[in-house]
Amino acid sequence: MQPDAQQPNQPRPVDTAMLRRVCGHFVTGVTVITSGSGTQAAGTTVNSFTSVSLDPPLVLICLHNDSRLRPVVEGTGAYVVNFLSAQQEVLARKFAAKATASLRDVAHRPSATGTPVLDDALGFLSCRVVSATEVGDHTIFVSEVVDMGMPTRFEQPLVFFRGALRALQEAR
Ligand SMILES: Cc1cc2nc3c(=O)[nH]c(=O)nc-3n(C[C@H](O)[C@H](O)[C@H](O)COP(=O)(O)O)c2cc1C
Repeated sequence: MQPDAQQPNQPRPVDTAMLRRVCGHFVTGVTVITSGSGTQAAGTTVNSFTSVSLDPPLVLICLHNDSRLRPVVEGTGAYVVNFLSAQQEVLARKFAAKATASLRDVAHRPSATGTPVLDDALGFLSCRVVSATEVGDHTIFVSEVVDMGMPTRFEQPLVFFRGALRALQEAR
């Protein structure tokens, strides 16, 4: 069948810069995903975290296929989702930069899987990977939660909105 030039609902090419700007209006929390252990330990800033299922306890993250953390997660089969507080904006920027993503200067301890938990995280989920699916330019890692924790004190979360990192009360 010949394509009909008059046909409605023809897909138009999507402008990726515009897609990023539109998605930026969806407010998210900010995490640092840590994986590996010892000298191989690494982390990167991620906002694609989603809670998937309570029973069984499953979550997911999406990592760009060029991310240095991707082979670390694949090799380790585990990662920790560290939720960031409003006080950790500098940390979020540090782990979003290719040159400085080292855990050496950040206080951390091993989680149940051996992968690092950041000491000052707002909360954490320690996860084992159950599936890795390459979709477009990212890989979706679905994982089972095996350990978790949160502080007893209340802290403001760090949020990402319209391309900026902010405290929750400043998100406007
Ligand atoms: C707020 C924020 C959210 C991000 N979310 C993701 C994400 O969900 N997945 C991802 O692969 N990169 C994400 N990035 C980009 C990474 O932090 C990082 O800059 C990029 O992956 C390159 O570093 P890497 O090679 O160490 O991963 C995000 C960056 C920022 C600042």
